[in-house]
Amino acid sequence: MSKFRKPLLLTAGLLLASTAIVFGGDVAAGKKVFGKCVACHMVGENAKHKVGPALNDVVGRQAGTAEGYNYSPAMKNAGLGGLVWDDPTLHAYLAKPKDIVKGTKMTFAGLKKEDDITDVIAYLSTFSQAAPPAVEAPKAEEAPKTEESAAPEAAKPAEVAEAEAAPEQTPTAASLPTAGVGAHLGLGREATPEEIAAWDIDVRPDGLGLPEGRGTVAEGMAIYDEKCAACHGDFGEAVGRRPVLAGGHGTLQADRPEKTIGSFWPYLSTVYDYVRRAMPFGDARSLSDDDVYALTAYLLYLNDEVTDEDFELSKDNFASIRLPNEANFIDDDRLQEPHYLDKSEPCMSNCVPGKAAIKMHAAVLDVTPQASGDDKEPAGGGID
Ligand code: HEC
Ligand code: HEC
Repeated sequence: MSKFRKPLLLTAGLLLASTAIVFGGDVAAGKKVFGKCVACHMVGENAKHKVGPALNDVVGRQAGTAEGYNYSPAMKNAGLGGLVWDDPTLHAYLAKPKDIVKGTKMTFAGLKKEDDITDVIAYLSTFSQAAPPAVEAPKAEEAPKTEESAAPEAAKPAEVAEAEAAPEQTPTAASLPTAGVGAHLGLGREATPEEIAAWDIDVRPDGLGLPEGRGTVAEGMAIYDEKCAACHGDFGEAVGRRPVLAGGHGTLQADRPEKTIGSFWPYLSTVYDYVRRAMPFGDARSLSDDDVYALTAYLLYLNDEVTDEDFELSKDNFASIRLPNEANFIDDDRLQEPHYLDKSEPCMSNCVPGKAAIKMHAAVLDVTPQASGDDKEPAGGGID
């Protein structure tokens, strides 16, 4: 990145005055690189749309707006969202098209070499009359005014960019647009600490991430009856096809195991985290931290993991509670498998000698449910 940003900053003022924009690249070399684009793009006199749009005047153009070309919705939306093709945005797009415009129909993996990108942009810009546009940061006044906010240099008026381009001001890592695609394109803003806190709520099995708080089984029962029982049943036995929240002990090796918090889940932290994050269904994040402690305590009670209605679950005793199935979850040990251990390459083609032959059909394997009469539910394939 630093490679092109420096010349861009140093010459921004100059470029405004001239018409042929060449940025920092080598036009002749860029013409060669364009050989990778000609299958889909034309540029220059009489250029027409092919698989991709004609690229005359692409520099300075809002993405997805060449007249008469049928863009993907993704490209049109990127343009409407403020994406304008200039040196930095073209640079990012040509390096990894699908990273910059997710869903673009330009099926091109991207140019790997920095120089190729710089050069092809230089070449394209000789067919563009526009001055290099400043990337307009949408609603700049709304951006948080933090000291380290990595505002893209390109978003600043040319005079400012020029003034900042004093020789000792080599761009630092922080000033480079690597903070994210958004910063790079002058889109979005940094999340506030409050927004991060609201999002960063995961709880780990060892209790890390638990909020302060507490709640008893009895308190949890009252909340449960009001907010959960309609779907999960009075005792966690579930209504209709909603998940069962209790029972199922000893069924894990049965044909149709009943996997519940008590019979299957390895860690209580998942219960806390899940209820806090996602329940009650349709009204997520409406429970207080204490409510969730109380509900988690009550779910332990419904699963016979605690028997006292006065039992209080809190941040302090949370990690001491162990669910019965924990030991049956093992660490991923696949690195111990032979082909990882001896570092041999896994076989990827023609691994079985001889010709491939169909040995069994899904219906025979009982994977595909048999069709049944209208009145009956499908037979089910025995996969849970
Ligand atoms: C396999 C075909 C293909 C190749 C190769 C290809 N492109 Fe594209 N390009 C497209 C298509 C299709 C679009 C329209 C994308 C969309 O609508 O999502 C596009 C869009 C673009 C755009 C956005 C144009 C606009 O008006 O918004 C630019 C810039 C671009 N290509 C440059 C290049 C360059 C430079 C190369 C060579 C390094 C290249 N492309 C290689 C198919 C291709
Ligand atoms: C409107 C119906 C509804 C209400 C009310 C509701 N849930 Fe749920 N609950 C669901 C559904 C549906 C799922 C499965 C969601 C999924 O798999 O995406 C679920 C899943 C769960 C699970 C995970 C179960 C498992 O084994 O995967 C827990 C725990 C849970 N709910 C607890 C609660 C608690 C506690 C409350 C009350 C605060 C509550 N739910 C209120 C419908 C509801």
